[in-house]
Amino acid sequence: MPKDNKTFYVSTPIYFVNDKPHIGHAYTTVAADVISRYKALLGYEKFFLTGTDEHGQKIEESAKEQNISPKDLADKNMQNFKQLWSNLNIGNDAFIRTTDAYHKEAVLKLYNIMKDKGDVYLGEYSGAYCTPCESYWTETQLIDENICPDCGRVTKELKEASYFFKLSKYQDQILEHIKANPDFIKPESRKNEIISFVSEGLRDLSISRVNFSWGIKVDEDSDHVIYVWIDALTNYLSALGYFDKDSDRKKFWPIDYHVVGKDIIRFHAVYWPAMLMSAGIELPKSIFAHGWWTVDGKKMSKSMGNAIDPNFIITKFSADAFRYFLMREVPFGLDGDFSYKALIHRVNTDLANDLGNLVSRTLGLLDKYFDRVVPEYNTPAKEDDELYEYIISNIDTIDKRLNNLAFNKALMSVWEIISSLNKYIDAMKPWNLAKDESTHDRLGSILYLILDTIRLLSYFIYPFMPESSLKIYKAVTGDDSLESVTSVDDLKRVKLLKSGVKLDEVKQIFPRIDEAEMLKEVTPKVDKEIKKDIIEKINFTDFEKVEIKAGKILGAERVPKSDKLLKMSVDCGDEPRIIVSGIGKTFEPTDLIGKTVAVVTNLLPAKLMGVESNGMILAATADDGKHQLLELPDTIKAGTKIK
Ligand code: MSP
Repeated sequence: MPKDNKTFYVSTPIYFVNDKPHIGHAYTTVAADVISRYKALLGYEKFFLTGTDEHGQKIEESAKEQNISPKDLADKNMQNFKQLWSNLNIGNDAFIRTTDAYHKEAVLKLYNIMKDKGDVYLGEYSGAYCTPCESYWTETQLIDENICPDCGRVTKELKEASYFFKLSKYQDQILEHIKANPDFIKPESRKNEIISFVSEGLRDLSISRVNFSWGIKVDEDSDHVIYVWIDALTNYLSALGYFDKDSDRKKFWPIDYHVVGKDIIRFHAVYWPAMLMSAGIELPKSIFAHGWWTVDGKKMSKSMGNAIDPNFIITKFSADAFRYFLMREVPFGLDGDFSYKALIHRVNTDLANDLGNLVSRTLGLLDKYFDRVVPEYNTPAKEDDELYEYIISNIDTIDKRLNNLAFNKALMSVWEIISSLNKYIDAMKPWNLAKDESTHDRLGSILYLILDTIRLLSYFIYPFMPESSLKIYKAVTGDDSLESVTSVDDLKRVKLLKSGVKLDEVKQIFPRIDEAEMLKEVTPKVDKEIKKDIIEKINFTDFEKVEIKAGKILGAERVPKSDKLLKMSVDCGDEPRIIVSGIGKTFEPTDLIGKTVAVVTNLLPAKLMGVESNGMILAATADDGKHQLLELPDTIKAGTKIK
């Protein structure tokens, strides 16, 4: 059944409860909130879903470590998400938890539909399994025979019974669907990634686990727990009561947008559509994968201690400033970097200078020359028509950009209008017109036009910064809430402002931030954490980049004029190479000849006191400054790889 085109459904992924919410989680949820608020503004009946993913081995293990039940852990941690969404002004219509009874029922229902279709069979899985990722990997996917390609940890060999879903059966259908529906996967780069993944061949998917119990048990075989991703993906249907006859939320399906991070696109754009195809359910209209945030150029992680708490950012700035930053700073779909400096810069430039200043200078003029009463628009001019035309012609662009989730571009268009208004004020020089009683009406018309346009802009600011938008709207119209509209064309209607209304005095909406002061307040929190002797965790692929070999020292001499540096000729299995090392205070050259030591052999050459060094001899430094080489016995031949 085609859905009513005045409904709109958007989802975020459901968040794992073993992690605290961070900027990345806030990002997905704010993006979904922006589009859902925009649609609601245009009179759509919308359904915005978020929630928590509470089953699985990782949660079972975290709970065990904390000596509580997995459900207690989930109850405790899901509150962190709920609290953050409230602090961030997120207007979700439902919050689903995979431990909710109605969800469990829906998962089993979908599972059984797929089974009745003949798409589920009992088999045996044998192969590499990564426990933290709860994923099986094929030989070709593994790195160095046994390393998980996602997290870099060592996988273990498992052989166990498992139910499988006939994913391979849907390979062609999925490819056809992607090709026939250009909006199905966005952005383009992700679409191409998925096309090549599917084209390489899909293997049937193991969809049950027997090695832990925290999950939804397969009806007829309670040793098996349903794979956490099959469980989780079903949330998008269960929240609608999709399998209940009487649910009136069913009308929201198919979903308009699944907003997800790039790391989980495969689950949403391959596994999920195949499950839906199997069940004969219409596919999502669009899956949008956004990029990842780093903090000060570094990956966010618990071990780095740099996963900034979004609640802290909100208390130091405001929910609106943070929301604006997230949506404006980075094109949706690309990776971005968070830094307090960049956030402060956005607040001071875009919010305080451009927007805030436009509102306050206009209200200042109104206060000075019209006692804060909205004037009549009774002295039209060519410049006004041009400005109105320019603004109206931009509205379709902003609408299109919002509908495509091109949030930063939509904001750029809004800010172009703001800057054209600031320029208009400068060009009209209202302060000059005020000097002459005969131009009083013209002055009133100019102020009317600016106030009226700010009124209009409030609509486009609203999805991003709901609180500030309402403040601005009230400041220029006197009304507490945006007048309702039912289409984009309604937003193109201008000169709607009511004249004669006495407006309130308004404090600055976006105060400027003192950068130095603010950085002092916020950075110690980050720096202290990072400096706690915490070193970035790397995955195996990163480690593999370093080549370490046994090297036999063939000759050694001092580098002239240096008491520290020794120049050595070292056999690392190929041509002897020159290596310069700062161990000359501990060793005499003759002590070293004949020793076999550990050498990093793939460092780029570096010049030390004019001598080119082609590698690094590994050594530890004791408290007294003496070096201890990592010596190897003679049985290890020069050139042997150290792993
Ligand atoms: N539980 C699964 C989703 C199941 S949906 C049926 C999951 N949860 S998660 O908590 O690990 O991640 C949720 C979302 O946060 C993902 O979209 C992920 O991309 C996003 N982010 C996690 N770290 C991120 C950044 N550093 N930057 C941006 N988003 C990131 O996956």
